[in-house]
Amino acid sequence: MRVLITRRLAIDPRPLLGPEAVIDQLEGERAPVRELLLERARESHALLSMVVDKIDAELLDQSPLLRIVANHAVGVDNIDVPACTARGVQVTNTPDVLTDSTADLTWTLLLAVARRLREGERLLREGRFLGWTPTLLLGLELNGATLGVHGFGRIGQAVARRAAGFGMRVVFHSRSQVPQALAQSLHARQVPFNELLASSDIISIHCPSTPETLHAYGARQFAAMKRGAILINTARGPIVDEAALVAALEAGTLGGAGLDVFEREPLVNPALLGRDDVVLLPHLGSATQATRARMATLALTDIARVLRGERPLHPVNQPLP
Ligand code: GLV
Repeated sequence: MRVLITRRLAIDPRPLLGPEAVIDQLEGERAPVRELLLERARESHALLSMVVDKIDAELLDQSPLLRIVANHAVGVDNIDVPACTARGVQVTNTPDVLTDSTADLTWTLLLAVARRLREGERLLREGRFLGWTPTLLLGLELNGATLGVHGFGRIGQAVARRAAGFGMRVVFHSRSQVPQALAQSLHARQVPFNELLASSDIISIHCPSTPETLHAYGARQFAAMKRGAILINTARGPIVDEAALVAALEAGTLGGAGLDVFEREPLVNPALLGRDDVVLLPHLGSATQATRARMATLALTDIARVLRGERPLHPVNQPLP
Protein backbone atom coordinates (compact mmCIF):
# COMPACT_ATOMS: atom_id res chain seq x y z
CA MET A 1 0.00 0.00 0.00
CA ARG A 2 1.39 3.38 -1.01
CA VAL A 3 0.92 6.28 1.36
CA LEU A 4 1.61 9.77 0.05
CA ILE A 5 2.52 12.29 2.76
CA THR A 6 2.70 15.77 1.32
CA ARG A 7 5.13 17.33 3.82
CA ARG A 8 7.70 16.62 6.50
CA LEU A 9 5.84 15.79 9.74
CA ALA A 10 6.56 16.44 13.41
CA ILE A 11 7.01 12.68 13.91
CA ASP A 12 8.40 9.72 11.99
CA PRO A 13 5.45 8.14 10.17
CA ARG A 14 6.92 4.66 9.81
CA PRO A 15 6.08 3.07 13.17
CA LEU A 16 2.40 4.01 12.85
CA LEU A 17 2.01 2.79 9.28
CA GLY A 18 3.70 -0.57 9.72
CA PRO A 19 6.18 -2.46 7.55
CA GLU A 20 3.84 -3.13 4.59
CA ALA A 21 3.31 0.52 3.84
CA VAL A 22 5.38 2.10 1.12
CA ILE A 23 5.80 5.69 2.23
CA ASP A 24 6.17 8.42 -0.34
CA GLN A 25 6.92 11.52 1.69
CA LEU A 26 7.50 14.87 0.01
CA GLU A 27 10.31 16.38 2.02
CA GLY A 28 10.00 20.02 1.10
CA GLU A 29 8.68 22.58 3.55
CA ARG A 30 6.57 24.16 0.85
CA ALA A 31 3.34 23.01 -0.72
CA PRO A 32 4.01 20.72 -3.67
CA VAL A 33 3.13 22.27 -6.99
CA ARG A 34 -0.13 20.95 -8.38
CA GLU A 35 1.50 18.73 -11.03
CA LEU A 36 3.67 17.03 -8.43
CA LEU A 37 0.72 16.42 -6.12
CA LEU A 38 -1.34 14.95 -8.98
CA GLU A 39 1.52 12.78 -10.19
CA ARG A 40 2.36 11.32 -6.78
CA ALA A 41 -1.29 10.80 -5.78
CA ARG A 42 -1.90 8.77 -8.93
CA GLU A 43 -0.43 5.55 -7.52
CA SER A 44 -1.32 6.12 -3.87
CA HIS A 45 -3.80 4.23 -1.69
CA ALA A 46 -3.72 6.87 1.04
CA LEU A 47 -2.98 10.55 1.10
CA LEU A 48 -2.00 12.59 4.13
CA SER A 49 -2.83 16.15 3.09
CA MET A 50 -2.31 19.63 4.52
CA VAL A 51 -4.67 22.60 4.61
CA VAL A 52 -3.32 24.09 1.40
CA ASP A 53 -3.30 20.86 -0.66
CA LYS A 54 -6.33 21.05 -2.90
CA ILE A 55 -8.02 17.66 -3.07
CA ASP A 56 -10.67 17.91 -5.76
CA ALA A 57 -12.49 15.81 -8.36
CA GLU A 58 -9.63 16.18 -10.83
CA LEU A 59 -7.15 14.66 -8.39
CA LEU A 60 -9.58 11.95 -7.30
CA ASP A 61 -10.36 10.95 -10.88
CA GLN A 62 -6.67 10.52 -11.59
CA SER A 63 -6.05 8.54 -8.40
CA PRO A 64 -8.17 5.41 -8.73
CA LEU A 65 -6.41 3.52 -5.93
CA LEU A 66 -7.07 6.17 -3.31
CA ARG A 67 -9.04 4.94 -0.27
CA ILE A 68 -8.41 7.65 2.29
CA VAL A 69 -7.53 11.33 2.45
CA ALA A 70 -6.41 12.08 6.01
CA ASN A 71 -6.27 15.84 6.44
CA HIS A 72 -3.62 17.07 8.86
CA ALA A 73 -6.07 19.74 10.13
CA VAL A 74 -9.48 20.06 11.65
CA GLY A 75 -10.83 22.21 8.80
CA VAL A 76 -11.46 20.32 5.57
CA ASP A 77 -12.28 23.22 3.24
CA ASN A 78 -9.32 22.22 1.03
CA ILE A 79 -11.08 18.95 0.22
CA ASP A 80 -14.10 18.37 -2.00
CA VAL A 81 -15.73 16.07 0.53
CA PRO A 82 -18.84 15.18 -1.54
CA ALA A 83 -16.55 14.22 -4.45
CA CYS A 84 -14.62 11.92 -2.10
CA THR A 85 -17.83 10.42 -0.74
CA ALA A 86 -19.16 9.73 -4.24
CA ARG A 87 -15.93 7.92 -5.16
CA GLY A 88 -15.79 5.83 -2.00
CA VAL A 89 -12.87 7.77 -0.53
CA GLN A 90 -12.79 8.19 3.24
CA VAL A 91 -11.94 11.66 4.56
CA THR A 92 -10.65 12.13 8.10
CA ASN A 93 -9.46 15.12 10.13
CA THR A 94 -7.67 15.84 13.41
CA PRO A 95 -10.11 17.45 15.86
CA ASP A 96 -9.64 17.96 19.63
CA VAL A 97 -5.85 17.70 19.73
CA LEU A 98 -5.36 21.24 18.41
CA THR A 99 -8.10 22.99 20.38
CA ASP A 100 -5.97 24.41 23.17
CA SER A 101 -2.97 25.38 21.06
CA THR A 102 -5.24 27.22 18.63
CA ALA A 103 -7.12 28.95 21.44
CA ASP A 104 -3.77 29.99 22.93
CA LEU A 105 -2.61 31.45 19.64
CA THR A 106 -5.91 33.30 19.32
CA TRP A 107 -5.23 34.91 22.68
CA THR A 108 -1.66 35.67 21.66
CA LEU A 109 -3.01 37.73 18.77
CA LEU A 110 -5.82 39.21 20.82
CA LEU A 111 -3.49 40.47 23.53
CA ALA A 112 -0.90 41.65 21.04
CA VAL A 113 -3.42 43.76 19.14
CA ALA A 114 -5.31 45.04 22.20
CA ARG A 115 -2.07 46.18 23.86
CA ARG A 116 -0.36 47.42 20.68
CA LEU A 117 2.53 45.04 21.05
CA ARG A 118 3.79 45.51 17.53
CA GLU A 119 3.93 49.28 17.73
CA GLY A 120 5.63 49.19 21.11
CA GLU A 121 8.22 46.65 20.04
CA ARG A 122 9.04 48.59 16.92
CA LEU A 123 9.28 51.91 18.72
CA LEU A 124 11.69 50.42 21.20
CA ARG A 125 13.86 48.56 18.68
CA GLU A 126 14.09 51.68 16.54
CA GLY A 127 15.45 53.64 19.47
CA ARG A 128 12.38 55.84 19.74
CA PHE A 129 11.59 54.99 23.39
CA LEU A 130 12.40 58.23 25.15
CA GLY A 131 11.08 57.26 28.58
CA TRP A 132 7.79 56.43 30.25
CA THR A 133 4.89 58.77 29.69
CA PRO A 134 1.26 58.46 30.80
CA THR A 135 -0.05 58.48 27.26
CA LEU A 136 2.34 56.25 25.35
CA LEU A 137 0.58 53.63 23.19
CA LEU A 138 -2.64 53.29 25.17
CA GLY A 139 -4.50 50.11 24.34
CA LEU A 140 -7.81 48.45 25.08
CA GLU A 141 -8.47 47.29 28.65
CA LEU A 142 -9.76 43.73 28.52
CA ASN A 143 -11.34 43.66 31.96
CA GLY A 144 -14.99 44.54 31.45
CA ALA A 145 -14.74 44.58 27.65
CA THR A 146 -16.91 42.29 25.53
CA LEU A 147 -15.47 39.42 23.52
CA GLY A 148 -17.61 38.18 20.64
CA VAL A 149 -16.87 34.61 19.64
CA HIS A 150 -18.12 33.66 16.18
CA GLY A 151 -18.54 29.90 16.00
CA PHE A 152 -18.89 27.90 19.19
CA GLY A 153 -17.28 24.59 18.43
CA ARG A 154 -14.38 23.23 20.44
CA ILE A 155 -12.01 26.09 19.61
CA GLY A 156 -14.60 28.85 20.09
CA GLN A 157 -15.44 27.39 23.49
CA ALA A 158 -11.78 27.15 24.49
CA VAL A 159 -11.30 30.80 23.54
CA ALA A 160 -14.37 31.76 25.59
CA ARG A 161 -13.10 29.75 28.57
CA ARG A 162 -9.86 31.75 28.61
CA ALA A 163 -11.80 35.03 28.59
CA ALA A 164 -13.01 34.46 32.14
CA GLY A 165 -9.46 34.84 33.39
CA PHE A 166 -9.29 38.29 31.82
CA GLY A 167 -12.59 39.47 33.26
CA MET A 168 -14.20 39.81 29.84
CA ARG A 169 -17.87 39.53 29.07
CA VAL A 170 -18.47 36.89 26.42
CA VAL A 171 -21.15 36.73 23.77
CA PHE A 172 -21.10 34.20 20.98
CA HIS A 173 -22.81 33.50 17.71
CA SER A 174 -23.44 30.00 16.43
CA ARG A 175 -25.52 28.51 13.62
CA SER A 176 -27.10 26.02 16.00
CA GLN A 177 -28.74 26.58 19.37
CA VAL A 178 -26.11 25.89 22.03
CA PRO A 179 -27.44 24.23 25.21
CA GLN A 180 -28.03 26.80 27.93
CA ALA A 181 -26.01 24.81 30.45
CA LEU A 182 -22.94 24.80 28.22
CA ALA A 183 -23.19 28.54 27.57
CA GLN A 184 -23.66 29.22 31.27
CA SER A 185 -20.71 27.06 32.25
CA LEU A 186 -18.56 29.36 30.10
CA HIS A 187 -20.30 32.53 31.32
CA ALA A 188 -21.23 33.20 27.73
CA ARG A 189 -24.46 34.32 26.08
CA GLN A 190 -25.63 33.27 22.63
CA VAL A 191 -26.66 36.20 20.46
CA PRO A 192 -27.72 36.77 16.84
CA PHE A 193 -24.99 37.84 14.41
CA ASN A 194 -26.20 41.49 14.41
CA GLU A 195 -25.89 41.68 18.15
CA LEU A 196 -22.44 40.07 18.10
CA LEU A 197 -21.32 42.77 15.68
CA ALA A 198 -22.90 45.62 17.60
CA SER A 199 -21.88 44.65 21.12
CA SER A 200 -18.33 43.27 20.85
CA ASP A 201 -15.13 45.19 21.51
CA ILE A 202 -13.22 42.27 20.04
CA ILE A 203 -14.57 39.63 17.67
CA SER A 204 -12.75 36.35 17.23
CA ILE A 205 -13.68 34.04 14.36
CA HIS A 206 -13.95 30.28 14.91
CA CYS A 207 -16.46 29.05 12.35
CA PRO A 208 -15.64 26.77 9.41
CA SER A 209 -15.02 28.18 5.95
CA THR A 210 -18.02 27.26 3.80
CA PRO A 211 -19.91 28.94 0.94
CA GLU A 212 -22.20 30.42 3.63
CA THR A 213 -19.35 32.00 5.63
CA LEU A 214 -17.45 33.34 2.60
CA HIS A 215 -16.86 37.05 3.32
CA ALA A 216 -19.10 36.88 6.39
CA TYR A 217 -17.01 39.90 7.44
CA GLY A 218 -17.18 42.59 4.78
CA ALA A 219 -17.86 46.31 4.52
CA ARG A 220 -21.41 46.01 5.89
CA GLN A 221 -20.38 43.99 8.92
CA PHE A 222 -17.43 46.25 9.72
CA ALA A 223 -19.74 49.25 9.57
CA ALA A 224 -22.06 47.49 12.04
CA MET A 225 -19.25 46.88 14.54
CA LYS A 226 -18.31 49.21 17.37
CA ARG A 227 -16.01 51.95 16.20
CA GLY A 228 -12.44 50.93 16.99
CA ALA A 229 -13.30 47.26 17.54
CA ILE A 230 -10.67 44.57 16.95
CA LEU A 231 -11.02 41.54 14.66
CA ILE A 232 -9.12 38.31 15.25
CA ASN A 233 -9.10 35.50 12.69
CA THR A 234 -7.44 32.17 13.41
CA ALA A 235 -10.06 30.20 11.45
CA ARG A 236 -9.85 30.58 7.66
CA GLY A 237 -8.97 33.53 5.46
CA PRO A 238 -11.96 33.56 3.08
CA ILE A 239 -14.35 34.28 5.98
CA VAL A 240 -12.99 37.85 5.94
CA ASP A 241 -13.07 40.13 2.91
CA GLU A 242 -9.46 41.31 3.15
CA ALA A 243 -9.92 44.35 0.90
CA ALA A 244 -12.87 45.50 3.03
CA LEU A 245 -10.82 44.89 6.17
CA VAL A 246 -8.04 47.12 4.88
CA ALA A 247 -10.60 49.82 4.05
CA ALA A 248 -12.16 49.57 7.53
CA LEU A 249 -8.75 49.86 9.19
CA GLU A 250 -7.83 52.79 6.99
CA ALA A 251 -11.09 54.56 7.84
CA GLY A 252 -10.62 53.88 11.55
CA THR A 253 -13.88 51.92 11.67
CA LEU A 254 -11.84 49.05 13.06
CA GLY A 255 -9.11 49.63 15.61
CA GLY A 256 -6.92 46.69 14.69
CA ALA A 257 -6.78 43.10 13.57
CA GLY A 258 -4.90 39.94 14.37
CA LEU A 259 -4.70 37.46 11.51
CA ASP A 260 -3.24 33.97 11.37
CA VAL A 261 -4.99 33.08 8.10
CA PHE A 262 -5.40 34.85 4.78
CA GLU A 263 -7.72 34.86 1.83
CA ARG A 264 -5.13 33.65 -0.68
CA GLU A 265 -2.61 31.92 1.55
CA PRO A 266 0.36 32.12 1.48
CA LEU A 267 -0.16 35.52 -0.22
CA VAL A 268 -0.96 38.40 2.11
CA ASN A 269 -2.65 41.60 1.01
CA PRO A 270 0.26 44.07 0.70
CA ALA A 271 -1.81 46.81 2.33
CA LEU A 272 -1.93 44.71 5.51
CA LEU A 273 1.83 44.21 5.53
CA GLY A 274 2.38 47.94 5.81
CA ARG A 275 0.04 48.50 8.77
CA ASP A 276 1.07 48.79 12.39
CA ASP A 277 -2.40 48.13 13.77
CA VAL A 278 -2.45 44.55 12.54
CA VAL A 279 -0.50 41.56 13.82
CA LEU A 280 0.09 38.92 11.18
CA LEU A 281 1.18 35.33 11.70
CA PRO A 282 1.91 32.59 9.15
CA HIS A 283 -0.93 30.15 10.03
CA LEU A 284 0.57 29.03 13.35
CA GLY A 285 -2.70 28.18 15.16
CA SER A 286 -1.79 24.60 15.99
CA ALA A 287 1.97 25.05 15.81
CA THR A 288 3.26 23.51 19.01
CA GLN A 289 5.48 20.45 19.07
CA ALA A 290 2.94 18.47 21.11
CA THR A 291 -0.07 19.40 18.98
CA ARG A 292 1.65 18.75 15.67
CA ALA A 293 2.85 15.36 16.93
CA ARG A 294 -0.72 14.50 17.95
CA MET A 295 -2.18 15.71 14.65
CA ALA A 296 0.25 13.57 12.68
CA THR A 297 -0.45 10.61 14.97
CA LEU A 298 -4.19 10.89 14.41
CA ALA A 299 -3.89 11.22 10.64
CA LEU A 300 -1.45 8.28 10.39
CA THR A 301 -3.53 6.14 12.73
CA ASP A 302 -6.61 6.65 10.59
CA ILE A 303 -4.67 5.84 7.42
CA ALA A 304 -3.47 2.58 8.98
CA ARG A 305 -6.99 1.73 10.15
CA VAL A 306 -8.65 2.39 6.80
CA LEU A 307 -5.98 0.48 4.87
CA ARG A 308 -6.62 -2.46 7.23
CA GLY A 309 -10.34 -2.20 6.50
CA GLU A 310 -11.24 -0.74 9.90
CA ARG A 311 -13.33 2.30 10.70
CA PRO A 312 -11.30 5.48 11.17
CA LEU A 313 -11.35 7.30 14.50
CA HIS A 314 -12.19 10.69 12.98
CA PRO A 315 -14.33 10.24 9.89
CA VAL A 316 -15.55 13.39 8.14
CA ASN A 317 -17.70 11.52 5.60
CA GLN A 318 -19.37 8.18 5.09
CA PRO A 319 -18.08 7.09 1.72
CA LEU A 320 -20.30 5.02 -0.50
CA PRO A 321 -19.05 1.43 -0.67
C1 GLV B 1 -5.55 24.26 10.66
O1 GLV B 1 -5.72 25.26 10.09
C2 GLV B 1 -6.56 23.29 10.91
O2 GLV B 1 -7.69 23.38 10.39
O3 GLV B 1 -6.26 22.36 11.65
